[in-house]
Amino acid sequence: MSDRDKELAARRAVEYVVDGMVVGLGTGSTADFAIRALGERARSEGLEVRCVPTSLASARLGEQVGLDIRSLEDCPAVDLTIDGADEVDPGLDLIKGLGGALLREKIVAGASGRVVIIVDASKRVGRLGTRSPLPVEVVPFAWTLARKRLMDLGPQVERRPDPQGQPFVTDNGNFILDCQFPEGIADPADTERRIDGIPGVVGNGFFIGIADTVVVGDDGRCRVLEREGR
Ligand code: A5P
Repeated sequence: MSDRDKELAARRAVEYVVDGMVVGLGTGSTADFAIRALGERARSEGLEVRCVPTSLASARLGEQVGLDIRSLEDCPAVDLTIDGADEVDPGLDLIKGLGGALLREKIVAGASGRVVIIVDASKRVGRLGTRSPLPVEVVPFAWTLARKRLMDLGPQVERRPDPQGQPFVTDNGNFILDCQFPEGIADPADTERRIDGIPGVVGNGFFIGIADTVVVGDDGRCRVLEREGR
């Protein structure tokens, strides 16, 4: 994992932004590099973009670097979203959500004409679920029942703590259940369908068929991977 590679990927992705676009701002340490780089371009080139953030933290950083932060209500059609990921498989399917912003990230990605994912090479996996747990967002009222139902699907499931040891609470007021699958996830689409059927679940970290482009910072170089058929 290297900050230099994250920043390299972020700067490459920000080159896709053109004047007048509505840009979705991802969440996490790699997305932060992109937000800063976009702020720089807006200042130095006079680039005018409106930005829809995927978390309160990204909204704050965007404001700090001088970006025009809007709500999804204001800008429901997003041209391009740039976001990080926790895992990228060979088909460019993803696991996201270690930063806890998975629900808004998926909503903004779903409103986007193009989704560009930025990672360093450590995020590439042969099978989803081997490097990272799968985060599942649940309403607090339902969390114990949802945990039990999730465990019936095979993983070990833990409610995510915050740094003080209290339950981590998302920007939407919910809990995150981290699901660790011992052998990774053999059939992500089927697993996602089952998870979405559990009462109280409001989001999961699978991003299947969502990434159009993945920019990988790898030892000082960038590799750009495009979804087949794009
Ligand atoms: C935030 O909820 C996540 O989906 C992030 O995009 C993901 O965790 C990647 O974060 P880093 O860039 O900090 O690794």
